[in-house]
Amino acid sequence: MSADARRIHPDLSKVLLDEETLRDRIRELGREISRDYAGRRLMVVGVLKGSVMVLADLLRSLSPDVDAAVDFMAVSSYAGTASTGTIRVLLDLRENPEGRDVLVVEDIVDTGLTLASLTETLRARKPRSLEVCTLLDKPDCRKIPFSPKYVGFKIPNEFVVGFGLDYEERYRQLPYVGVLRTPSNGQ
Ligand code: PRP
Repeated sequence: MSADARRIHPDLSKVLLDEETLRDRIRELGREISRDYAGRRLMVVGVLKGSVMVLADLLRSLSPDVDAAVDFMAVSSYAGTASTGTIRVLLDLRENPEGRDVLVVEDIVDTGLTLASLTETLRARKPRSLEVCTLLDKPDCRKIPFSPKYVGFKIPNEFVVGFGLDYEERYRQLPYVGVLRTPSNGQ
């Protein structure tokens, strides 16, 4: 990667997680997930768009002993009120998750509303197992209890962008996670 791509973006106040830190932790998660799913057929579900970076790195970290398929979903923010946390599915899976070992990959769990609703939607389709892997977790921001099985980093309540995470669709391409200088109200 060029030095230009690594340069800290002027809109950020600091880098929270640099490339090496992200890479090392995702490799660890890949090893852990590979152990847990060795010899099984895994259906990895990336939730667009924020998960693209962690998904790509995580897939490359999986052992060849895991028989992994990849699928995608896209969901809207809350179709109802924030308190109900109902999501709308914008792009659905191509494959039927019934009877499959499903691992949902996300960039961040914040209020927990998206993942609580998404996992409820998926569980209704009767997967053999269903777990969530998130790169970032903001446990202090929950509006609903939700505990992902695999967590890259627990982070404080700061508005973070980069490595797939956006603010108004910007900053996703940054190879690190940083704190936006002028945070808005929540992620
Ligand atoms: C982000 C993230 C989760 C959700 C987490 O998606 O990818 O899906 O927010 O927030 P919550 O725990 O408060 O529900 P976003 O709606 O920003 O879409 P994006 O992935 O396309 O950026």
